[in-house]
Amino acid sequence: LTLPPLRIALAGLGTVGGGVARLLAGQERLLALRAGRPLQLVAVSARDRRKDRGFPLDSVAWFDDPVALATAPGIDVVVELIGGSEGPARRLVEAALAAGRPVISANKALIAHHGASLGRLAHEGGATLAYEAAVAGGIPIIKMLREGLVGNEVKRIYGILNGTCNYILTTMRESGREFAEVLAEAQKLGYAEADPAFDVDGIDAAHKLAILAALAFGCEVDLGHVHVEGIRHVGAQDIAYAEELGLRVKLIGLAQLIDGALEQRVGPCLVPLEAPIATVEGVFNAVVAEGDFVGTVMAEGRGAGAGPTASAVAADLVDLARGRALPPFALSAAQLRRLPARSLEARRGAYYLRLMVVDRPGVIADVAASLRDEDISMESMIQRGRAPGEVVSVVMTTHDTTEAAMRRALARIAALKAVVAEPRPIRIESF
Ligand SMILES: NC(=O)c1ccc[n+]([C@@H]2O[C@H](COP(=O)([O-])OP(=O)(O)OC[C@H]3O[C@@H](n4cnc5c(N)ncnc54)[C@H](OP(=O)(O)O)[C@@H]3O)[C@@H](O)[C@H]2O)c1
Repeated sequence: LTLPPLRIALAGLGTVGGGVARLLAGQERLLALRAGRPLQLVAVSARDRRKDRGFPLDSVAWFDDPVALATAPGIDVVVELIGGSEGPARRLVEAALAAGRPVISANKALIAHHGASLGRLAHEGGATLAYEAAVAGGIPIIKMLREGLVGNEVKRIYGILNGTCNYILTTMRESGREFAEVLAEAQKLGYAEADPAFDVDGIDAAHKLAILAALAFGCEVDLGHVHVEGIRHVGAQDIAYAEELGLRVKLIGLAQLIDGALEQRVGPCLVPLEAPIATVEGVFNAVVAEGDFVGTVMAEGRGAGAGPTASAVAADLVDLARGRALPPFALSAAQLRRLPARSLEARRGAYYLRLMVVDRPGVIADVAASLRDEDISMESMIQRGRAPGEVVSVVMTTHDTTEAAMRRALARIAALKAVVAEPRPIRIESF
């Protein structure tokens, strides 16, 4: 090893930062061989200097202010593992890139909100911005898109991008319990945050989807046009009925280019049981890319946790140590397009619908008429037993229609006297 070591500063020593520090120590020899030079941790920053991190910090410099790592001497790369789209993480990354210092980050919120401007800053400063760990944790999806699939035009990219939601949906299915109960248990087990909104309302998945879409379609990150729905409204009944219909509920993030316009959405979807993505269960993530030459490629793995995320950061570190660098979004900042957003109303596909209706004669005929008036044809219907005068569930699936027609039909259905709860459709995807 004749090259000097790559001197690394870690900003943030929490779940991911701690994982990276342990990986650097545990794989020291292996990494030095693979990088052609030692990877050396030289500086760290976190809030609490006295906290026991479970690993020694006496041989590295401590910084109370992480932003100082952007320009402090004796550092070759800053690894930002603080988190948050604003605050010290943003200030640090911007200052480092502006100073021409390479940055590695796991911060999907930051990249999703400010990817376009950070990409320009990196370009102007001649610095690398790498973020393998920001999307789908341990799955090397950024590398897969930017390098492995570089010979393809990607037609569509979709995936299970949030392990917390996938764990909740899987547990709901296996146990038959409702969302709130399973969420509370997931929080106790540490699979869900005390404030679960980022995960269960689809925001975290939207951050990752916006980044994937930018890479796949050569455009600027456009988080503002991601249509986002979470999983709070998915009922245990929906999951059970879906299985009967040969379908499984997944929180899917999907982006596709149709007629030059970009559709980006996150929401619960029903996928066929035989689709590979239906078998991705528990905390696992998966990303599927459809390329014009390669066909369909799926990558599955752990999307979070200290080990998988540190594994992704290590890949970025070795690339940097070897001098391998690509523009953050595959194309140079000036070549990234701004794509028009495609309205979700234009989505064409089938729908699942569960209605809570008062069981009396003529109700189903009224619902069917509302669908017929919008040219929507029913594919199947399930109504279990009879309970005259009481509220029962009626489940139906439609043939392909448009989201716009479905919304109009739903407005009619919701206005029917016998329909007692707001009908919530779930999109069926034919993956
Ligand atoms: N956790 C995962 O599995 C995972 C997976 C993929 C991506 N990510 C991303 O990785 C990033 C870090 O996540 P995490 O789970 O590791 O978070 P975390 O456990 O909360 O750790 C955050 C770290 O940042 C430090 N910090 C916070 N504010 C600071 C400040 N003002 N100055 C200096 N240090 C500060 C904290 O210091 P103290 O320790 O002293 O409090 C802590 O060490 C986030 O962007 C997250 O989205 C996480």
